[in-house]
Amino acid sequence: MAANGSYPIDRIRGDFPILSEEVHGKPLVYLDNGASAQKPSAVIDQISKTYETGYANVHRGVHYMSQIATDAMEDARRKAQMFLNAADEKEIIFVRGATEGINLVASSWGRANLQEGDEIILSVLEHHSNIVPWQIVAEQTGAVIKVVPIDDAGIFLMDEYEKLLSEKTKMVAVTHVSNALGTIVPVEDVICLAREKDACILLDGCQAAPHLPVDVQALDVDFYVFSGHKLYGPSGIGVLYGKEALLDAMPPYEGGGEMIDRVTFEKTTYAELPFKFEAGTPHISGIIALGSAIDYLNGIGFDAIAEHEHGLLEYATERLTEMNSIEIVGTAPEKAAILSFNIQDVHPHDVGTILDHDGIAVRTGHHCAQPVMDRFDVAATVRASFGLYNTKSEVDALVEGIKRVQEMFA
Ligand code: ALA
Repeated sequence: MAANGSYPIDRIRGDFPILSEEVHGKPLVYLDNGASAQKPSAVIDQISKTYETGYANVHRGVHYMSQIATDAMEDARRKAQMFLNAADEKEIIFVRGATEGINLVASSWGRANLQEGDEIILSVLEHHSNIVPWQIVAEQTGAVIKVVPIDDAGIFLMDEYEKLLSEKTKMVAVTHVSNALGTIVPVEDVICLAREKDACILLDGCQAAPHLPVDVQALDVDFYVFSGHKLYGPSGIGVLYGKEALLDAMPPYEGGGEMIDRVTFEKTTYAELPFKFEAGTPHISGIIALGSAIDYLNGIGFDAIAEHEHGLLEYATERLTEMNSIEIVGTAPEKAAILSFNIQDVHPHDVGTILDHDGIAVRTGHHCAQPVMDRFDVAATVRASFGLYNTKSEVDALVEGIKRVQEMFA
């Protein structure tokens, strides 16, 4: 679809019913896409359609409705496979979200592969969900966590990473895009260096998948996770991609129905991939609607989305840079559509509350990335995160809102 300039913004905005809502009597300006994105009618309608015309439990029934629901779910798996360019649909595991995907790998792969003294490399940029699961497995196995630092702009320090890598490195788990700063990590280089040490690599793609094309085969990454709710899909559903050979060798994460081959009290054998990792009744309507979200994104095209969002980020960065007493936190040259900042002498929560009165939704706080806040010696930031439906006039509304905050605190 059209590149920026002819980007069909009006039609796109019309696809998202919530964008016509008012908040405190003002038009909603939704700039909290990093936390969760809004949903197009295609996704909302698909959820209703599943329950209205094609719902039953999956992979269990011989009856018509079960077949319809199973086919729709497996169709969504193929869409996710193509979305990531995975080699096989068996490599797509449906999970509750990126958090569960990382916990699955840390727990299953980690307990099977890590031993005392083995090293796991993370970076300062990580969301808590890519820190805490590794701390838990490190405690259980005696593995040690090493952390790649960032510079004052929020750039991942490749030289320092290289120094941390050794024969002891067994896992490198880093974010593709920082949720707190927007930094795009040069993951191709990260992977290339990890390969030299035969380390496994997991990428947290939560903030990348909605903004950049991802090709897990071209990246040659071992594990990749993303959440549906940040990708304009439902909450409570996400994807773990894993290379087939690795997933095959990993023990189950959760036990229950669906993930078994045969159960006896003496011995249970497990189902083939991907079902080995999908215990219990899945989020059927969510999976199917995630497929619709992927269709929706493909319909616009990632080149057009990336160009549009890049334009918004550049414009917002310029406008905030012109203002007095604003500190932008995270100024890496390669960033996705996230702008974190602070207003001098005003607490971020006050900024967020005042902006909310103007109908502007931003996230304030530590963004579940406290090590990033510590690195910049701030308790919190205000974060505007853009999506494919945002506009320059919404950036202008943010700037006007910030001016009002400054006037109130002058
Ligand atoms: N991980 C989400 C965020 O960054 C919730 O806001």
